[in-house]
Amino acid sequence: MKALVLSGGAGTRLRPFSHSMPKQLIPVANKPVLEHVLENIVALGVSDIGVVVGDWEPEITAVLGDGSRLGARLTYLRQDKPRGLADCVRVARDFLGDDDFVMYLGDCMLVGGVAEAAEEFARLRPRAYVVVHKVADPSAFGVVEMDPDGTVRRLVEKPRDARSDLALTGVYFFTSAIHRAIDAIGPSARGELEITDAIQWLVTDGAEVRAGRYRGYWKDTGRIDDVLECNRKLLDGLVRRVDGTVDGASELDGAVVVEPGARVTRSRIEGPAIIGAGTLIEDCVIGPHTSVGRDCSLGGSRLGYSIVLDGAEIHRVDRLHGSVIGRFAVVGPVTDDGDRQRLVIGDHSRVQVGGER
Ligand code: TTP
Repeated sequence: MKALVLSGGAGTRLRPFSHSMPKQLIPVANKPVLEHVLENIVALGVSDIGVVVGDWEPEITAVLGDGSRLGARLTYLRQDKPRGLADCVRVARDFLGDDDFVMYLGDCMLVGGVAEAAEEFARLRPRAYVVVHKVADPSAFGVVEMDPDGTVRRLVEKPRDARSDLALTGVYFFTSAIHRAIDAIGPSARGELEITDAIQWLVTDGAEVRAGRYRGYWKDTGRIDDVLECNRKLLDGLVRRVDGTVDGASELDGAVVVEPGARVTRSRIEGPAIIGAGTLIEDCVIGPHTSVGRDCSLGGSRLGYSIVLDGAEIHRVDRLHGSVIGRFAVVGPVTDDGDRQRLVIGDHSRVQVGGER
């Protein structure tokens, strides 16, 4: 079996981050979402992995390389434009040949892995097998209607009157039958070649399509709030490890990871929290549920339930919460310059400055 990981796309919902980096490289518990995805695939015993990339190809290859670090052999497949999930399978046609494959969205976190689904697909070997998860608001998802025995009857994109609360997670197992289905469909109303249309084509054609329920933690990390929530969930499983330097005036409380070369001085870290390699923390209160990337500098600040990306600086800012601070961003207090306040803000940024209470 091979794997196909989709790591192109526009990432409009993750602006402004997706202006300067591919959304699949956003760190969750200080590791890019895409690496979590690849680890789940390698855990299935699948190492021959095609990665569909768009304009961010150089950034993605710089981080993942040939995949050997993760126990994988990666083949990068360039999609010229985000033309839809089924178009990605088309782009990968030569790489996939007639092999079975698992298709995995590169921004999709299934924390417990998908071994159970892989085993069921191998055992029953339907033409296609989709992994679904129960959701409270099916109208926001691609929804699967299925029989009690797991046979898929219908797939519906964002139904108004949902007859099922089982949403597509973004992990699919396919036989080569999917290629014929993709050749048979046309673009949807939004102009994309939809994988749900291809799977529905198989169902209508009488092919066996099955769904299996994933009961672990699942998150599509397409939006900032989801990234923060997913970070919280992963940090909940953190185990304390201190490789960096913590001075006597600092206090670490609970599951705190201080990576090599990090220095914590006169600060309190409330776990679960990670302080990335080479980062300097002085006179701060950090955590819980906070991850700080590599080579950051934080001083005289308070920060909880947040993610700080590599190289960022935060100085003398109190009570940051639910924040995501981009790479090499510099955050400081408003300097008292009469009645003026200075901001240097990029496109699509969101800023809330302290007004009158
Ligand atoms: P989506 O999150 O559905 O689409 P998107 O990346 O365009 O994001 P947004 O809606 O915020 O604009 O894509 C799911 C995954 O599939 C994601 O990892 C990107 C990838 N993808 C491709 O590789 N090629 C494509 O043509 C599309 C649509 C998505």
